Amino acid sequence: MKNNEKNIPVLVVDFGSQTTQLILRRIRELGVYCEIVSYKNLMFEVKKYSPKALIFSGGPSSAFVNSSPKVSEDIYKLNIPILGICYGMQIICQQLKGKVKETNTREFGKANIKILKNSAIFGSSLKIGNKSQVWMSHGDQVEKLPKGFEILAYTKDNNISAISSKEKKIFGIQFHPEVIHTLKGRTIIKNFVLKISKIKPNWKIKNYLDEKINQIKKQVKNDEVICGLSGGVDSSVVAALINKAVGRKLTCIFVNHGLLRKDEEKEVMNDFKKYTNAKIIYVNAKKEFFSRLKGITEPEKKRKIIGKEFIRVFEKEAKKIKNAKYLAQGTLYPDVIESKHIEGSKSKLIKSHHNVGGLPKKLNLKLIEPLRELFKDEVRQLGKELRLPDNIVRRHPFPGPGLAIRIPGVISNKKINILKKADFIFIEELKKHNLYNKIWQAFCVLLPVKSVGVMGDSRSYEFTLSVRAITSKDGMTAEVYNFNHNFLKYISGRIVNEVKGINRVLYDITSKPPATIEWE
Ligand code: XMP
Repeated sequence: MKNNEKNIPVLVVDFGSQTTQLILRRIRELGVYCEIVSYKNLMFEVKKYSPKALIFSGGPSSAFVNSSPKVSEDIYKLNIPILGICYGMQIICQQLKGKVKETNTREFGKANIKILKNSAIFGSSLKIGNKSQVWMSHGDQVEKLPKGFEILAYTKDNNISAISSKEKKIFGIQFHPEVIHTLKGRTIIKNFVLKISKIKPNWKIKNYLDEKINQIKKQVKNDEVICGLSGGVDSSVVAALINKAVGRKLTCIFVNHGLLRKDEEKEVMNDFKKYTNAKIIYVNAKKEFFSRLKGITEPEKKRKIIGKEFIRVFEKEAKKIKNAKYLAQGTLYPDVIESKHIEGSKSKLIKSHHNVGGLPKKLNLKLIEPLRELFKDEVRQLGKELRLPDNIVRRHPFPGPGLAIRIPGVISNKKINILKKADFIFIEELKKHNLYNKIWQAFCVLLPVKSVGVMGDSRSYEFTLSVRAITSKDGMTAEVYNFNHNFLKYISGRIVNEVKGINRVLYDITSKPPATIEWE
């Protein structure tokens, strides 16, 4: 269900760019609600949501190819302000009878633009003659402008990098204002949304919460809702929100697959009682998961087995709840976008992510996904609004398959216990040193490698542990956290001394890409 069926102030039209979500982020940061829509039925979306502004994203296609994605030409006849970014600008030019061509001077990464003309899109921050750093990623180039358009900026090779219609509020920029390396990017988006399109910023998480609670109340009436609870931010926020709307008509199911961190199941159960009065079913399924994972080493196989088993256990429990008509899930906006296939995108499966609550199809339940329109940090704000405790709201993400994907190779009870102890020490020290909240995600990985050590007067031959800590905005890319060396030495010392079974600790210093955050 949409936030508001009638009006969405800004629609971002997706042509398959890697950075479309970032455009959305920048607009919501201004306090303006927006959503991504496909280019295919844009007239229909426009009629449905009455937007006050349209932004065309970049994309991998070439605008001069006949089959490339384009919008209905009637869109240009409406008086809605349009901002085209990269391919978005090229397709505007191509459709309005300008010309786009392939160039020999492809521009990738940082570049400088020079302003040729003052414009509302640049406002007072970029005036004639000014230069400014932008971020480019294109091979094609606008060669001839449509009638009634003018050039606003060039790059050094005389490539056209910003244009506007003289009469209509249609703008095009070749660079990406949504990317932080475009130094005036935020200002450009702000000028377009707030000044040119005259949209009033009134998007607040509190309004969103009230709206959702009302919607869910009306929808559920006297039926029952079930919800998979992992204890992570997303499922906890969903549980608290639904509980607020329907009270004890909510039952949560917490499946302990035996691959949780030290004492995690106790914490989740205790916390749950503090922030909701909903019902909860605790399922101990350790044995089932363990026996199905026996001898499995291949990461994707592990993931598939865990995902399937989760759904099996969940379905079995859910069937016991009479009158259950709805299944609540913590699906976030990035999941929604990623699952929509955009023509021209060449993305490959890296890992099959599994979330608690998966998608049990057999249950025939209607879905309630109150976080569908939100990004992770907005979910955290919502959690605060719902007065969830800080330890839940600021909790690092933890993957559905749990410790199974942090034990490369064969999983055993012994290894799980070793990893639990080491991970606990690492996280405890991060908290003690006030580092936990500066890091997006931190954890340990128990490697299937044994090495020789010397402890006291004896020889040891034990496992190796890799410690990982990264900073990130959304988990899509990640940078390694720069610890003080002495802190790392201290961690290594504590772990090797206190955890029997580990005699060597490594620090993983690889960013994402090229590595992923989890090892499997
Ligand atoms: P990767 O390893 O793909 O992880 O760089 C990106 C983020 O996603 C988390 N992750 C998962 N979360 N179910 C989840 O709920 C999964 O199957 C899963 N796999 C990875 C990972 O911890 C990181 O935050």
